[in-house]
Amino acid sequence: MGCPPSTGHRATMLVIGIETSCDETGLAVYDTARGLLAHALHSQVAMHTIYGGVVPELASRDHVRRVVPLAQRVLADAGATLADLDGIAYTRGPGLAGALLVGASVASALGFALGKPVIGVHHMEGHLLSPLLAEPKPAFPFVALLVSGGHTQLFAVEGVGRYRLLGDTKDDAAGEAFDKTAKLLGLGYPGGPALARLAEEGRDGAVALPRPMLASGDLDMSFSGLKTAALLLVRREAAEGSLDDDHRADIAREFQHAVVDVLVAKALAALDATGSPRLVVAGGVGANRELRARLTAALARRGGQVYFPDLEFCTDNGAMIALAGALRLAHAEQADYAFSVLPRWDLATLPAG
Ligand code: KG4
Ligand code: ZN
Repeated sequence: MGCPPSTGHRATMLVIGIETSCDETGLAVYDTARGLLAHALHSQVAMHTIYGGVVPELASRDHVRRVVPLAQRVLADAGATLADLDGIAYTRGPGLAGALLVGASVASALGFALGKPVIGVHHMEGHLLSPLLAEPKPAFPFVALLVSGGHTQLFAVEGVGRYRLLGDTKDDAAGEAFDKTAKLLGLGYPGGPALARLAEEGRDGAVALPRPMLASGDLDMSFSGLKTAALLLVRREAAEGSLDDDHRADIAREFQHAVVDVLVAKALAALDATGSPRLVVAGGVGANRELRARLTAALARRGGQVYFPDLEFCTDNGAMIALAGALRLAHAEQADYAFSVLPRWDLATLPAG
């Protein structure tokens, strides 16, 4: 294996980002001086939908089919060639092993062929830094609420790679609870957006669900009991013959209220605990309209600021990987082009950038 050059602490860098951790192939070109130049996404939702969830083997194979054409497209859209790139960033984990390996192998082969540095990015670090793609950008330090399909965490963020875990879910992630509850309400995959749409038609206070760990006195959360409470409610209404479309919408609305109540309370408690006026929200559930509205109002009331990624960068995308990769490549020393993926990877273990 050849030894790629270090990036030598360059002033500006052009980086291609490759995201293949789950069911979206995301590619993007990011310039540290000019910002995001191009991005493209292929969603596999249509392919997995008949199975009611992501089929890992199909996901990997589809990434293989999509990744090179999408790379060519974003380079053309950015008006750049492979030779212009200063580095290649890919999602190293967490995620599906086979899916991650597609991005890792393409990135490493590209780096080897071009003699350019390659960096493996933590998927959740990509999410966490994604509000830096929008304007105005949050200044460090801030509190980050990461809410995705696999994670529900609060971090005190001092800078790139300086993440202190403040609170975590004890069981299901918020997005996972959305997806599972959507399924039991008869909504398809992906369930979160579908449940949120149904919730808009429901009535406030028609049914009651718990707000788990709201008064636990710490910053941890739990969503599995809420999902079970929703399940019991659905079963009871089904047995009584009252589970019509209106009742489904009422349950969806109350479920969303319950998740949002907990997320808002814990995020505000984290701001109190750190003394930070700035909250950054990232990850797929960050696209939820009720969560965005409630946090926006709450931060306005206390004179703080909340930062969300643009809606298209809440869920998985290549832009956040290109951005996080660019921020880390500026200081990275890379040994060789060998690669491995980390399907399970703790964000709090990352080195400072
Ligand atoms: O960040 P993401 O794309 O993937 C992971 O890294 O996990 O997040 C996907 C999750 C799914 O659970 C999806 O149902 C949820 O985000 N989600 C939403 C909404 N949009 C996506 N949940 C609630 N409301 C939404 N509007
Ligand atoms: Zn994600």
